[in-house]
Amino acid sequence: MLNPLAQELNDTLHGTVAGELLSDLGKRIFFPRGIISQGGEAKQFGKVANATIGTTIIDGKPASLPSVQKYAPELSSGELVAYAPTAGIPDLRAKWKELMLKKNPGLAGKSTSNPVVVPGLTAGISYLSDLFVDSEHPLLAANPSWDNYSLIVETRRGGELHTFNMFHNGGFDINSFKTALAIEAKSGSVRVLLNFPQNPSGYSPTNAEAKQIVQAVKEIAEKGTKVIVWDDDAYFGLNYESDIYPQSLFAEFADLHENVLAVKIDGPTKEDFVWGFRCGFLTFAGKSLTAEQYLALEKKLMGLIRSSVSCSSTPSQSISLKAFSDSKIEAEKKVFRDVLEGRYKKVRAFVDSHKSSVLEPLPFNSGYFMSFKTKCDAEALRQKILHEKQIGTISIDSSTLRVAFSSVEADKIDEVYSAIYETAEQFKTEN
Ligand SMILES: Cc1ncc(COP(=O)(O)O)c(C=O)c1O
Repeated sequence: MLNPLAQELNDTLHGTVAGELLSDLGKRIFFPRGIISQGGEAKQFGKVANATIGTTIIDGKPASLPSVQKYAPELSSGELVAYAPTAGIPDLRAKWKELMLKKNPGLAGKSTSNPVVVPGLTAGISYLSDLFVDSEHPLLAANPSWDNYSLIVETRRGGELHTFNMFHNGGFDINSFKTALAIEAKSGSVRVLLNFPQNPSGYSPTNAEAKQIVQAVKEIAEKGTKVIVWDDDAYFGLNYESDIYPQSLFAEFADLHENVLAVKIDGPTKEDFVWGFRCGFLTFAGKSLTAEQYLALEKKLMGLIRSSVSCSSTPSQSISLKAFSDSKIEAEKKVFRDVLEGRYKKVRAFVDSHKSSVLEPLPFNSGYFMSFKTKCDAEALRQKILHEKQIGTISIDSSTLRVAFSSVEADKIDEVYSAIYETAEQFKTEN
């Protein structure tokens, strides 16, 4: 038996692309009218006393110990130690939406939900898997992809991660993407994740490729298939070449077709260089979804948040909100982005001027990483580079080696890449 509140949300979403794509858990989840919502009412009407929430209030403020408070002198105790609302601090949600529109002018005039705060993009992806993936409903993603997708979707959710081939002839493999979409569509609906700039390849689509990707989704939607597109924008804004589609594809999918539901997974963790803040956002968009239907999706997310972490961390939200309103932040971000671009250029120059019979760089033009397709076992190569050259890299699978140039100082890049190439060559003759 579904809880009546879940039924209410499902009724609101009935007949929409969102309602039809919900997983088993997605259908069951709801946001209870319990402590949190009663506490919200008390904030509004409990003028004499608010005896609802389990915190300590002294002199009308959340009590924060001096030995805690002294490390954040600019934050009030409420900004530091109080619980944040389940969906995040309202002003932060509004600010992120405002910034999203600025960063993605293509969203102008298109409706979206309010961004819901989650504790990092990983949690956001996990919540989306809760809502839309189950043993009957797989997720499609690129091969190679960030390895955590498989851990979330397969190991945690008991679903399947299906893949399309990411590259062909030095660019995005649109034919593999289209074929994979068509195969998924046979089951009646499609759940697809796109991540640009990509982990592990460091690739973002060109303007022409972006058009093809959007068109491919549109074509299956036009045939009647319900599609949800997850845009994992973890590395948004780190584009190093001129012919890269400059926005999130979410801006295109937001109102593409009645059969398409778009979700943007983003946040400041990488974009604003605050990895450990554990702050991210989920935002929905769909042509003809109403404000009430967006709210129903937000409520379902809130149920997932409430039943797992209860709410995201307050200090990181408070600091993010203040930082996003700081007039200097854009100039400061540019300094860091320029550092990363400088490293990219050095890596680009190295791989363009060195040939290897063992290593083939996958296409890369953005983000934190680049990867090599390896003609030897990537894990064996990684071990050898680590133990003989004391350089850490990641083997993504048996033939993909990822290098996070974002973490390597520019003056070390030649040394690191020379070591990787030398080791790979040795490997070839030894093995
Ligand atoms: C593609 C991609 N998405 C999401 C994440 C997770 O980001 P967060 O630190 O906000 O959980 C990562 C982190 O490595 C990533 O590479």
